[in-house]
Amino acid sequence: MMKIAEKSRVALGFFRIDDKSKKEINNMFVSAMDTGINFFDHADMYGGNHKCEARFGESLDISDDVREKIFIQTKCGIRNGVYGSYYDSSKEHILDRVDGSLKALQTDYLDYLLLHRPDTLIEGEEVGEAFDQLYSSGKVRKFGVSNFTPSQLEYLQKYCNQKLCINQVQLSVVHSPIIDSGLNMNTFFDGGIDRDGGTLEYSRLNDITLQAWSPLQYGWFEGVFLGSEKYSDLNKELNLLADRYNVDPITISIAWILRHPAKIQALIGTTNPERIEKCAKAMEILLTREEWYHLYILAGHRIL
Ligand SMILES: NC(=O)c1ccc[n+]([C@@H]2O[C@H](COP(=O)([O-])OP(=O)(O)OC[C@H]3O[C@@H](n4cnc5c(N)ncnc54)[C@H](OP(=O)(O)O)[C@@H]3O)[C@@H](O)[C@H]2O)c1
Repeated sequence: MMKIAEKSRVALGFFRIDDKSKKEINNMFVSAMDTGINFFDHADMYGGNHKCEARFGESLDISDDVREKIFIQTKCGIRNGVYGSYYDSSKEHILDRVDGSLKALQTDYLDYLLLHRPDTLIEGEEVGEAFDQLYSSGKVRKFGVSNFTPSQLEYLQKYCNQKLCINQVQLSVVHSPIIDSGLNMNTFFDGGIDRDGGTLEYSRLNDITLQAWSPLQYGWFEGVFLGSEKYSDLNKELNLLADRYNVDPITISIAWILRHPAKIQALIGTTNPERIEKCAKAMEILLTREEWYHLYILAGHRIL
């Protein structure tokens, strides 16, 4: 079934809403919709066992009309066990989690379902069967993955009738290994180490949309680079560009991701309605090549 709307380049994630009130979640949604964001990301494990999905579902009263104008995506495949986390991409688990997500989100279908992380015990045939069943029952319209290398994705695609059309990966101006390796190929510079198997180039070649998670963070959830003393040169330039474009530095940080011609979606995670609006403004800004590279270098990367 065709959607009435196109998906927005900025998407809003609900990873951090487990302690938010219904009113706060509603304000996030309204501010997103008012500023042109119609794509919403979840995972069954956010908040633990569908909790954030349920907070979303019970906080919003989404009419059928609005439902057709928005895109709801969720992820599954990370489990909590007796010994901690592990991965499960078995058919049984996927089918069970999708039913749980639909119930928690209070919707009849998901626009996108992603496998959250690569699972070395994955069996492509099982995932293919699960996806077929979810597609033919109308529970899921499109499929993808998160944090997969190109060869992991290609392996899975071999068993899936549905195109895997999204790969969600960590990317910000500071955390940019998928860009660094291509720019530093054939050098001994650290950036030249290929940790991702050419994810960026593979996605462009195969029309797979990359979604950039944690677009404002550095490291593994170490913090936000905006305003951080660790990134003072970068922040000075973000402030300068913010003045030039008459926006906030957060807008420029998101515009840096959107400027890439791979048409990467920026997956923001702020719970603050004002910040959501400022991030959405990035969809109106096109940084120049020189501005883009200058920010990249000030973030601590090298190109030559
Ligand atoms: N696939 C995966 O493995 C994966 C992993 C992680 C996340 N995700 C998805 O990606 C989405 C975004 O991730 P994220 O939440 O890490 O993204 P993010 O947008 O980089 O970070 C959001 C966090 O930064 C804070 N923040 C934003 N601007 C700030 C500023 N100027 N000063 C101080 N703090 C600021 C926000 O606080 P406020 O709320 O107070 O603004 C919020 O806690 C998640 O919601 C989830 O959907 C996917």
